[in-house]
Amino acid sequence: MVYQKIKIIRVFIIILVVSCLCLITYNMSLTEICTFWTRKEGTVVFKKNSGNFLQLPDMDCKKNPPFLVVMVTSSHNQIKARMAIRETWGKERSVKGKRIVTYFLLGITNSKDDDVVTQESQKYRDIIQKDFLDGYFNLTLKTMMGIEWVHHFCPQSDFVMKTDSDVFVNVYYLTELLIRKNRTTRFFTGFLKMNEFPIRNIFSKWYVSKYEYPWKKYPPFCSGTGYVFSSDIASEVYNVSEEVPFIKLEDVFVGLCLAELKIELQELHSEQTFFPNRLKFSSCRFKKIVTCHFVKPVELLTYWKALERSLDEKCPAV
Ligand SMILES: *[C@@H]1O[C@H](CO)[C@@H](O)[C@H](O)[C@H]1NC(C)=O
Ligand SMILES: *[C@@H]1O[C@H](CO)[C@@H](O)[C@H](O)[C@H]1NC(C)=O
Ligand SMILES: *[C@@H]1O[C@H](CO)[C@@H](O)[C@H](O)[C@H]1NC(C)=O
Repeated sequence: MVYQKIKIIRVFIIILVVSCLCLITYNMSLTEICTFWTRKEGTVVFKKNSGNFLQLPDMDCKKNPPFLVVMVTSSHNQIKARMAIRETWGKERSVKGKRIVTYFLLGITNSKDDDVVTQESQKYRDIIQKDFLDGYFNLTLKTMMGIEWVHHFCPQSDFVMKTDSDVFVNVYYLTELLIRKNRTTRFFTGFLKMNEFPIRNIFSKWYVSKYEYPWKKYPPFCSGTGYVFSSDIASEVYNVSEEVPFIKLEDVFVGLCLAELKIELQELHSEQTFFPNRLKFSSCRFKKIVTCHFVKPVELLTYWKALERSLDEKCPAV
């Protein structure tokens, strides 16, 4: 009898321990439990001026400042996407007399891929690269590299856009709306996210631990698929970037900087123009948008051709 009782208690304890472990690992991954116990205060901060620029675009910003600098986060293997962008919306052009240039942001891989990128950079002169290791978790470093580049090399530009390599950008409509908006300082726009919460599910791509971000809510930020700001903001964000908590989600990190600077997000237009999702293509629809997401290189080429062909055509009123 006593022996059996002990056995039951033992099983009960095992179940208790296992379910505790499950609960803990649901909220914190194993590596985090380790870093939690071994961490030193302030190990994760953003360092300004860290790393060296390896590749810089060929341009004299002071002499001939562009109206808009578009910066595209990209990785080494996305060569098709970069080529499609160079042939479509990223081709240097003037819209209503305003010059637009597009550059790609890359890190390093410590493999022979780096040589390929160096050659690509020498050929197209449109790559900004620093010596941090490329990867999804270093996206904040990538965006901050672009912001640092504007701060150091091109503060004379009027506007800056940050986008991704699988995004369609209607630079015609964007330029038109920016001119119409007539805001030149402390202006930040995109797809506004005013009420976002950290995702605590470890299986999500956007999982953020309580250790990395202990607060309940994110500050207002714009979806990283495409946001646009007056270039004075680049220097201001760069300036405060060491004073806000570091987070690997680049768009949230920029949001933290904006909150510190008390810069409020604004809509570019009375209708939605930034789409963080996929949209079904029609030239009339795409004439009146700024961004849409999940566009493959081949789609980009056909969409762009159709858009340019129809620029002067009338569309039915919506
Ligand atoms: C980010 O870059 C730094 C500097 O190169 C590197 O030490 C680190 O391992 C990288 N992190 C990730 C997750 O790739
Ligand atoms: C743009 O804004 C400035 C002041 O902010 C104003 O003087 C100017 O008239 C505006 N231009 C247009 C076209 O609305
Ligand atoms: C940078 O921040 C300091 C205070 O933290 C401020 O005095 C300075 O004006 C700022 N510079 C820029 C360019 O915003």
